[in-house]
Amino acid sequence: MEAILSRNFNISNAWKLSVAEERGAYQTAKKVLTSSKPEEVLAAVMASNLRGLGGAGFPTGKKWSFLPKNNPKPVYLVINADEGEPGTCKDRYILERDPHQMIEGIIISAFAINSHKAYVYIRGEYVRPYENLQAAVDEAYTKGYLGKNALGSGYAIDLVVHRGAGAYICGEETALLNSLEGGRGLPRLKPPFPAIVGLFGCPTIINNVETVACVPHIMKNGAEWFAALGIPGCGGTHLFSISGHVEKPGVYELPMGVSLKDIIYKNAGGILGGRQLKAVIPGGISAKILTAAEVDVKMDYDSLKNAGTMLGSAGIMVMDETTCMVKMLYYATKFFAHESCGQCSPCREGTGWAHKIVTRIYSGHGKIEDLDELLRIARNMERRTICVFADAAAWPILSYIGKFRTEFEQFITQGKAALLEPAGAH
Ligand SMILES: Cc1cc2nc3c(=O)[nH]c(=O)nc-3n(C[C@H](O)[C@H](O)[C@H](O)COP(=O)(O)O)c2cc1C
Ligand code: SF4
Repeated sequence: MEAILSRNFNISNAWKLSVAEERGAYQTAKKVLTSSKPEEVLAAVMASNLRGLGGAGFPTGKKWSFLPKNNPKPVYLVINADEGEPGTCKDRYILERDPHQMIEGIIISAFAINSHKAYVYIRGEYVRPYENLQAAVDEAYTKGYLGKNALGSGYAIDLVVHRGAGAYICGEETALLNSLEGGRGLPRLKPPFPAIVGLFGCPTIINNVETVACVPHIMKNGAEWFAALGIPGCGGTHLFSISGHVEKPGVYELPMGVSLKDIIYKNAGGILGGRQLKAVIPGGISAKILTAAEVDVKMDYDSLKNAGTMLGSAGIMVMDETTCMVKMLYYATKFFAHESCGQCSPCREGTGWAHKIVTRIYSGHGKIEDLDELLRIARNMERRTICVFADAAAWPILSYIGKFRTEFEQFITQGKAALLEPAGAH
């Protein structure tokens, strides 16, 4: 498959404007801003079947169409570059290696939604990606590609890069908006959705880094071309991050709907050391786990939903036969207990309580009854909170115990904990 989003990832210094321009950067944006109408861009994005690549997979054109018509307030475009989902490092590649691709996408997307001000909210831990992105934005301003007369089109676009301070919850779009406004990163109750009441109370579109990076390619090659790259209802390619027990971990650009089995065994070179596959998390730590017998599945939103899990951030984590599922759950619950923003009782109390019980099991003091207690806590966290963080925190508990219960029971009854490192060691 021809590389599209990743075509410049291995080109030296592609984050510099001179190199990016040699590779065609900004030509499409210039053409669109000088010869197309915003509604033509919207129609193309709709027809392309581009789905939001930040995790939820919401159709991008449809989201843009929710903006109120004839509204007197400014419209903001906010790019979610928080990328805090464990197992995920795809946006990092765009930000660090080819930021002009995303900036060009921002220019076209802002034009399409009649926005003159865009923000990129980038996770605080991303130092090199931030430096390269900021340098790229500065160069784009110097050349007049951003600013009052973007690309000589007469259309004004300002772009501000804002650094987060290391909270996973600030990737949730409304927590991100609060953080961008200078407040605490607490998710907001929805509705109203950001397209109606978003940043500073104004209509706002929030899109992921990779989502907007697709837009120049759609406008250059056509909506039908983009749609045909993927599967019906889900166009284009996706950057899949794969980590864990594989021979060649990394970020691979592949068509939507590619087989998970093929990614593991063909792209990533199979299981490390020729060992046996035990389990896979297909879409970041929040996605429900799949057993080795379940990996013959397509990587797209609907196929994974039908398989009882989700594509999420497309962060694939592979576990071989040596992996201890109790240890996996220990780390997953530790992460969620640490990152809950604490607004909702089921999440604040549930994540901490679950982590305490799993820690007890992992340190060799578990009881068989703990397993049903954990499942009960997890079920009481689902679908009753301000944001879906609590659901995401419940899914590892439900799926690891649900699919590997015998292993948890053996760990508790046979004292396997004594053979492993102590829980407090990390
Ligand atoms: C707890 C939580 C964390 C999230 N983290 C991210 C993130 O790091 N990056 C991202 O793009 N979307 C993240 N999302 C999804 C965003 O809320 C939002 O759906 C997305 O940015 C919309 O962009 P898209 O339509 O282009 O996918 C997160 C959602 C939740 C609930
Ligand atoms: S579900 Fe958790 S993270 Fe989301 S708002 Fe409630 S307490 Fe905060």
